[in-house]
Amino acid sequence: MNKTSKLITVFIIFLAICGNIQAQNKGFESRIDSVLKLMTLEEKVGQMNQYNGFWEVTGPAPKDGNAKMKYEHLKKGLVGSMLNVKGTAEVRKLQELVMKETRLKIPLIFGFDVIHGYKTISPIPLAESASWDLEAIEKSARIAAIEAAAVGINWTFAPMVDISRDARWGRVMEGAGEDTYLGSKIGIARVKGFQGNDLSSNNTIAACAKHFAAYGFIEAGRDYNTVDIGTYTLHNVVFPPFKAIIESGVRTVMNSFNVLNGVPATANKFLQREILKDKWKFDGFIISDWSSGAEMINHGFAANLKEVAETSANGGSDMDMESLAYVSHLKEAVENGKVDIKLVDDAVKRILRVKFELGLFDDPYKYCDEKREKELIRHPDHIAGVLDMAKKSIVLLKNDKQLLPLKKTQDKIAIIGALAEDKDHPLGSWVIGADKGTAVSVLEGFKKYNNNFKFAKGANSTFEQDEKGFAEAVALAKKSEIVVMVLGEGADQSGEARSRTTLDLPGSQQKLLEAVYAVNKNIVLVLMNGRPLAITWADKNIPCILESWHLGTESGNAIAQVLFGDYNPSGKLTMTFPRNVGQVPIYYNYFNTGRGDYQPHRYWSHYIDESNAPLYPFGYGLSYTQFEYSNLQIDASNQSAVKVQVTVKNIGKLAGEEVTQLYIRDKFASFVRPVKELKGFKKFALAPNESKVIDFVLTEAELGFYTDKGDFIVEAGEFEVMVGTDSQKLLKGGFVRK
Ligand code: BGC
Repeated sequence: MNKTSKLITVFIIFLAICGNIQAQNKGFESRIDSVLKLMTLEEKVGQMNQYNGFWEVTGPAPKDGNAKMKYEHLKKGLVGSMLNVKGTAEVRKLQELVMKETRLKIPLIFGFDVIHGYKTISPIPLAESASWDLEAIEKSARIAAIEAAAVGINWTFAPMVDISRDARWGRVMEGAGEDTYLGSKIGIARVKGFQGNDLSSNNTIAACAKHFAAYGFIEAGRDYNTVDIGTYTLHNVVFPPFKAIIESGVRTVMNSFNVLNGVPATANKFLQREILKDKWKFDGFIISDWSSGAEMINHGFAANLKEVAETSANGGSDMDMESLAYVSHLKEAVENGKVDIKLVDDAVKRILRVKFELGLFDDPYKYCDEKREKELIRHPDHIAGVLDMAKKSIVLLKNDKQLLPLKKTQDKIAIIGALAEDKDHPLGSWVIGADKGTAVSVLEGFKKYNNNFKFAKGANSTFEQDEKGFAEAVALAKKSEIVVMVLGEGADQSGEARSRTTLDLPGSQQKLLEAVYAVNKNIVLVLMNGRPLAITWADKNIPCILESWHLGTESGNAIAQVLFGDYNPSGKLTMTFPRNVGQVPIYYNYFNTGRGDYQPHRYWSHYIDESNAPLYPFGYGLSYTQFEYSNLQIDASNQSAVKVQVTVKNIGKLAGEEVTQLYIRDKFASFVRPVKELKGFKKFALAPNESKVIDFVLTEAELGFYTDKGDFIVEAGEFEVMVGTDSQKLLKGGFVRK
C-alpha cells in the first residue's frame, strides 16, 4: 500500500467510526459528503452498478457479461451492489474481496428477492393480503427479514405495491390485490416488518417499493407489455401505495419494465424526478429493474447502451441492475457533458446514505455471522409465525350442506389431486432462497387429524391433458363418503413471466372434477393457486370451496386446521374472482357508465353471453359462523371527522373473526368517482352471541381524491356510506358535506 492509499484508508476508518456516532443521530450527511469527495468519477459510477451473483435466475444474462469480468470489476471498486448471492459464506467472500482489494473500501449492499420468506416461507403476498390482518402481515415480513439478514442479505426487493385488476398477469400473486387503500396499509405493514425501527440492527433489512410505476396495468395481462393509463388513474390508483410507503420510510424504489406515456420508466423524469424525488422528497435510491435499462433499446427509445446510460441517469435511475450501461458508459457521458456530474453525485449520495443507515460502514460483515445463520434459519418461532399467517390467509368461498368443518372421526374419505401430495408447489412462486420439497403437503397435514383416507392423484396440475389417473380416482370417490379434491395451479403457473389467457383449472383438472362429481357430490374443493380463477362450474355444483392459495412452508398444516375447524376461516378476497376470463379487468371500484346498471332494453353496458357480476366480489369470504349487521349510524356534525358506527353480532354457533369493511361514494364530483371505494376496515373476534359496535372516522384524507394533475381536493356534496361484510352486502347511509 502506498502512502496516499494508507492515508485514505485511515480516513475511511475514521469516517466509519464517526459514522457510527452519527448513525445514532441519523446525521450521515457530512460523512456522505466526505466519502464522496474522495471518490473518482469511475468509483462513483461503480457505486451505481449492480451485478447478479449468478445468472438466469430472475432474468436473462446480459450479452457482454461474464463472471471473470464481474470479478475484475468487484476488485476495482466498479460494483456497488450484488443481488441474489446465497448464504453467509458467499456474501462474506464477496464483501472481503471488496474490502481488501478496492481503494476506498466502500462496502457492497446485498439485495435479494425475499418476497415471502427466505427459507421459512410465508404465504404468497396475495394470500397474505386476504387475511386483512396488518399485524400478522408485519410479523411475516419480520420473519423474512430476520432470516434474510442472518444469511448476509441487507436489502429485499419487496414489497411489490403494484395495483392490478387483471388476473391473467402472473405477478398478481406478488401484490396485495386490486385496492389502493388496502394495498397502501399492507405496504406500510410489510415495510415496517422488513425495516423494523432501526435499520442498522443486524436483523432488519432495507425494503424496496416496486415497480414504479403502473406495471400492474400492462395490456392484456401479458408480462413486460405496454402500459397506457390515464393520469387520473395514475394519481388515484397507482401512486397512493407508493406515496404511503415512502412516507412510512421505505429506503429504496425499483422502477419498472414498462413504458409510460411513451417513456420507459427507467428513463422517466416525470416518475423518478418530478414525482418521487421532488414532490415526495424521497431521499433513498432508485434501482432499475433487471436490465430494464438495456431493454430501452428494444423499446426503440435508446439506440445503444451509451444512450441507455445517458437517459437512465438523466431520468433519475440511481443504480443499474444487470444492464452494464453505467459501468460501461456513464463516465464518458459525464465527461462529454451529456450527464451533469451533479446528478451522478446525487445518485451516489443516495446509495451511500442507505449503506450508512444499514450500518455497513461501521461493520461491513455485521450481517455475516454463520452462527446466527444456523440459529435463526427455520427457527421454531418462524415456523409458528408462518403457520399463523397461512391459516389467516385462507378464504372460505362456499359451504353449502355444511360439509365443513370435517369431523375428526369421519370415515371413508377420498383425497384426490396431484397438488395434495406435493411438497414444492405450495411454496408458491418467488422462493429462490427456499429448499425444494420443504412445504408440508395437504396429505401430511390431514394425517395429523384423520387417517381414514385414501389418496388418488387423478391428474397432474400441469397444462397437459392427462386422463390416465381418472379411473382410479373415480373408483375411489365412488366408495367414499366424502371427497376432498385439491386442485389448482402449480407454483410455476403464476409469478413473473407466467401470464395466462384462461383462468380455468389447468390441464385435465376441470374434467377430473366433473368426473368425480358424477359419482359423488359430497366434494370439498381445496384450491391452490396464485391468482383469481374463473371456477364458475365449481361454484354452481360443488358444495364446499376453500381458497388456500400457495401458503408456503406450513401449507398442509394450515389447510388441515381449517378443514377440521381448529381454525375458523376469516380471510376475504382482495381481488375480484371473475365468472369468465372475458370480464377481465374486473374490479369493484369501477365508474358507472352513462347507461347505469341493469336496463330493460339492450343498449346498456353488458355482455350478451355472461352477467357483469363477479363470481366472488372483492372483500368476500365466509366463516363457519355467521355475522349480522345492524344499526348503521353516521354523525357528520364534525365535517372533517365524520363518525360511522355499526353493530356486528355473531349469530352462529362458533367463535369467529370478521372483517368489517367501510366504503364511500362521492355521488357527484368534478371528476367522476367510483361506485364505491374502501376507506376503512377492522378485523375482530366475536364469541357466539357476542356483539360489538365497530366505529370508523372519515377525515378529509378519506373523502378527497386527486385530480388528473395530481392535486388533492376535497369537495362538498353528497356522500354515500356503506358498511358490511364484503363489497356487495352492505348497509347504506349517507351525509352531506357542506
Ligand atoms: C423483477 C423484479 C426483481 C428483479 C430481481 C426482475 O425480473 O421484475 O421484481 O426484483 O428481477 O430479481
